[in-house]
Amino acid sequence: MAILLPGGAGFIGSHTAVELLKEGREIIIIDNFSNSTPESLKAIKKITGKDFKFYEIDYLDRENLEKVFKENDIEAVMNFAGYKAVGESVQKPIDYYTNNISGALVLLDTMKKYNVKKFIFSSSATVYGEPETMPITEETPTGGTTNPYGTTKLYIEQILKDIYKSDNTWDICILRYFNPVGADESGLIGEEPKGIPNNLMPYVARVAAGILKELSVFGNDYDTPDGTGVRDYIHVVDLAKGHIKALEKLEKEKEGLYIYNLGTGTGYSVLDMVKAFEKATGKNVPYKIAPRRAGDIAICYADSSKAKEELGWKAEKNLDDMCKDSWNFIERNS
Ligand code: UFG
Repeated sequence: MAILLPGGAGFIGSHTAVELLKEGREIIIIDNFSNSTPESLKAIKKITGKDFKFYEIDYLDRENLEKVFKENDIEAVMNFAGYKAVGESVQKPIDYYTNNISGALVLLDTMKKYNVKKFIFSSSATVYGEPETMPITEETPTGGTTNPYGTTKLYIEQILKDIYKSDNTWDICILRYFNPVGADESGLIGEEPKGIPNNLMPYVARVAAGILKELSVFGNDYDTPDGTGVRDYIHVVDLAKGHIKALEKLEKEKEGLYIYNLGTGTGYSVLDMVKAFEKATGKNVPYKIAPRRAGDIAICYADSSKAKEELGWKAEKNLDDMCKDSWNFIERNS
């Protein structure tokens, strides 16, 4: 039986596809390449030496999505489709709510019709808004999201809880990602944001490569050790492995709705990241201090002990791996 990956050509989807194939799983990818390219599919095959089915469709296209469910024996769905740029979501809320929420609903409705009830959802630490205490556990209250992107994640989580309440033969796992960075060590897949990157690590890597002039550090007056924002950066390969553990959990346990934070439990500041990147790559990352970015919080890092206890998952890669692998991808692809 196959695992269906909507958005499987994208950053986190492609890395999870690789790990699933390495585990000997059968996968099917659907993607409309709205924020990815067909090259990543070739790269997945090259890295793993394995083949898989691919459908170029939009997950909102119910008719074609149904075909995928009719033509294949699908065991579970891992949903990586959806828009993810925080700033853009403020400019285009209708696009974000339509694509992320309607897309998830079409997918879930189709799953229900074909009696596929194992669902793993890519959520985000953004659902916690501005938490009062650190580290963030799964019990930390959610809400208070500051942008439509974050709100789509929060709403979809609520939709999943309601679906499970209505029919507890669903088997759902919500994974709340912290800050995914890095790339497969082959350097063949990685994060390829269109245009100028919003996120720190892809920006830093492009400054080091000379593609961008300098990094703007958004604020150095936060209540943190060096004044710059602190985040829990997690290697994307560790994150991908978390999905496999979640799938195993859904296969092993009787039906349920589970929620896990996927982070390392360690927070690093923007300046820590710049220094670590320079050390790992031997490159210079010129930066200037700029005003705070609207909507940013000072500190965000996970307590991931629930994932360790219940999934047997723990992030294995360190900051040096994250920097080296991000750089390797940029060097090979720029
Ligand atoms: N930063 C800079 N300069 C930049 C980019 C970022 O100083 O050019 C700083 C930010 O101010 C922040 C840190 O680097 O302190 C991390 O910023 P990112 O944009 O990389 O990540 P965020 O923590 O803002 O957002 C990420 C994901 C979201 C997710 C959120 C959850 O991009 O999808 O984590 O906490 F919702």
